[in-house]
Amino acid sequence: MERDNLLIAINHVFKTIKEKTLIEDFSLSVNKGDFISIIGPSGCGKSSLIRLLARLDSPSKGEITYPKNINISCVFQDAALIPWLNVFENINLAIPCNATKTKISAKNKVEEILSLVKLSGFESYFPHELSGGMKMRVSIARALVSDPQLLLMDEPFSSLDEIVRNELQDDLWDYWSTKKVNIFFVTHSISEAVFLSQKILIFNRQTIEYKECQSVRTPLFRFNPNYLNEVSELSNRLRSYV
Ligand SMILES: Nc1ncnc2c1ncn2[C@@H]1O[C@H](COP(=O)(O)OP(=O)(O)O)[C@@H](O)[C@H]1O
Ligand SMILES: [Mg+2]
Repeated sequence: MERDNLLIAINHVFKTIKEKTLIEDFSLSVNKGDFISIIGPSGCGKSSLIRLLARLDSPSKGEITYPKNINISCVFQDAALIPWLNVFENINLAIPCNATKTKISAKNKVEEILSLVKLSGFESYFPHELSGGMKMRVSIARALVSDPQLLLMDEPFSSLDEIVRNELQDDLWDYWSTKKVNIFFVTHSISEAVFLSQKILIFNRQTIEYKECQSVRTPLFRFNPNYLNEVSELSNRLRSYV
């Protein structure tokens, strides 16, 4: 039963860069639908793990196994939109080229995804005409337009103000709870990690700890005592690593 639910197996993975061991004997079974946040001090290897999961880099030792033909998308801190393409074109570019991609199906898909990220009507805008939050929404739309099974997000909301950030957190959580896509989400914000995910990987320079969050989201989850307790417990734990 457990095996049917398994999406990714990370088996005894090591990553060494320039003789510095960033990841040492790390194993994790990732179940379908897991939303896993990654937190820890700067320079401890969080982005390196994302690069391994994205298959942009290979482990020094060990292996990561995926289902055949898994579809992976990434979102980074910089929205990295192509400046001379408008919103529609930036997203359209990410639709996989295959026989089913007709002009009409692509247009419908981009419109569907723009509505999901609350940007309907902005198709013809260019990146320089958008706010930081809107650019990030386009970046997320570009990642979602190929219906990924695995979404890797490396500090996507770090440069946004708190109000926009909270909105994007709510929308990302709604998307995840509807689609049950797998998400790895790197953040420096402990409250963001506890808000979004049920599972948290805590990098502490020597090891990677694994924590499950018990809290259940409600409309006023950010004010829920269980949530605040989890944030405070995790803050104390991280402080002890510095
Ligand atoms: N391609 C690379 N070449 C040299 N050093 C690297 C490379 N990638 C990462 N590092 C180093 O590895 C360490 C961890 O980097 P990173 O995974 O980006 O950390 P984090 O995302 O936790 O801040 C850093 O000290 C960084 O300088
Ligand atoms: Mg990083």
